Amino acid sequence: MEQDTFTVLVTGANSGLGYAICCRLIDEFLHTRPQSQNLHILFSTRDQRKSEATRKRLHGHLQKTLRNINDSTHGKISLLLESRVKIEGVLVDLTKLITVKALAQSLVRRGQRLDAAICNAGVAGWLGTNWVKAIPEVITGLIEATTAPEFMICDVGLLAKPQGTLSGKRDGKGGEEEPTLGQVFLSNVFGHYMLVHWLSPVLDGNSRVIWISSVSALENLFSRQDLQGLRSDRAYESSKRLTDLLVLTSDLPSTTPFTSTFWAQDSSQASTTKTKAEARPKMYLTHPGVIQTSIADLNPIMSFFMLLSLYYARLLGSPWHPISPYKGAISAVYAALSPTSQLPGQEEMDGKGKWGSSTDVFGGERVARTEVDGWGFAGVVGRIPTGSVAGKMGRRKGWREMTGERREEFEVEGREVWRDMERLRVEWEGRLGEVEVGKGEDV
Ligand SMILES: NC(=O)c1ccc[n+]([C@@H]2O[C@H](COP(=O)([O-])OP(=O)(O)OC[C@H]3O[C@@H](n4cnc5c(N)ncnc54)[C@H](OP(=O)(O)O)[C@@H]3O)[C@@H](O)[C@H]2O)c1
Repeated sequence: MEQDTFTVLVTGANSGLGYAICCRLIDEFLHTRPQSQNLHILFSTRDQRKSEATRKRLHGHLQKTLRNINDSTHGKISLLLESRVKIEGVLVDLTKLITVKALAQSLVRRGQRLDAAICNAGVAGWLGTNWVKAIPEVITGLIEATTAPEFMICDVGLLAKPQGTLSGKRDGKGGEEEPTLGQVFLSNVFGHYMLVHWLSPVLDGNSRVIWISSVSALENLFSRQDLQGLRSDRAYESSKRLTDLLVLTSDLPSTTPFTSTFWAQDSSQASTTKTKAEARPKMYLTHPGVIQTSIADLNPIMSFFMLLSLYYARLLGSPWHPISPYKGAISAVYAALSPTSQLPGQEEMDGKGKWGSSTDVFGGERVARTEVDGWGFAGVVGRIPTGSVAGKMGRRKGWREMTGERREEFEVEGREVWRDMERLRVEWEGRLGEVEVGKGEDV
């Protein structure tokens, strides 16, 4: 029987959501895909030690899944199933663009077509917790405080290390200064943006690019005048709102002048039978809800109290508290694996959406559309497709009714950020052109 392989790249896979996405991909693939299909997971970490440790843990997870399948089928089909999963580590540090380019080039060189790329890696850029703000916020509104906290202290203006481009020597001797890049912006958005662009030759019209956003990506926390969030005290949320704007407007005709230069295959390999737009990969927007991971960098005692408050928020009826990373991974895995008739079909029929991992009070998880400021559930005023988390519980502080005017503003802003990002990409590609790519393989 001819074997066909589903290949997926997951960034930031050594912990939290990224690791859980890999585990869930293995489980759902083995349970839903026919014997004739194999899964190839390319998981990324920042160094060899993390890569090896993650590879071992993922193999451990695969063995556990196989044992469960054996137990439930009273058989020994694990040998057959095991050979269907290949787990391979790759290295990349998104704050070092040269390593991003090196990863993309090595996959392109080996002709590694990707079915899905999951842009998961990210940082919060927080210095700690402002307890004076946190305590009243938690007491007066636990759900809001644990969904979109205003009490985390942002490391305002946090910069990534210089990229070391040749023209960017900071020697004060007349060399052109390398422009700065915000660390949160670079890790969460721009590093992935460049990665996907450089991966274009191995992505086609059937490939999916899955972005991870957040329920805390509120409209007022992003300003186009501060694209990288360097002046913002909510740089993390700013990066996630930017992600929402980019992905939700990525299929609109108004962004085509920019998306067509972003998707390199538009000019190189668009087939004659398909239009350029059809030959492009699709971008999907997801978020995990609120999950307990190391992103907030809390000490063990605070982590324990945080966990208790997350469960309490769920008990109070919050739809966005999956808490466990595995449950939080459901939306990204759905976006990667669901057949064309499901997620792509739903977006085709009802409009592009933000797909979140939602749970009921007992922790039963499902994928649900999330309301986005200015876009609504599907980019159409008044349209609330079945399965959306509608109503008060799904809304954040400062929520405003969606109107035709706000929908228009969202699209205009989306087009502008596409233009800004493309401009930045072209500038950085020019600068990086001077750096030897081979150097980047050592992250
Ligand atoms: N936790 C939540 O409630 C929540 C809610 C909404 C969205 N999210 C999103 O979920 C994603 C994963 O976060 P998490 O909660 O799972 O946090 P996490 O446990 O801290 O995982 C973050 C992962 O990203 C990697 N990473 C960070 N910066 C990187 C860089 N510059 N280059 C390459 N890899 C990098 C980390 O690698 P190292 O170990 O090497 O640092 C780690 O593997 C993020 O995009 C986050 O914004 C999380």
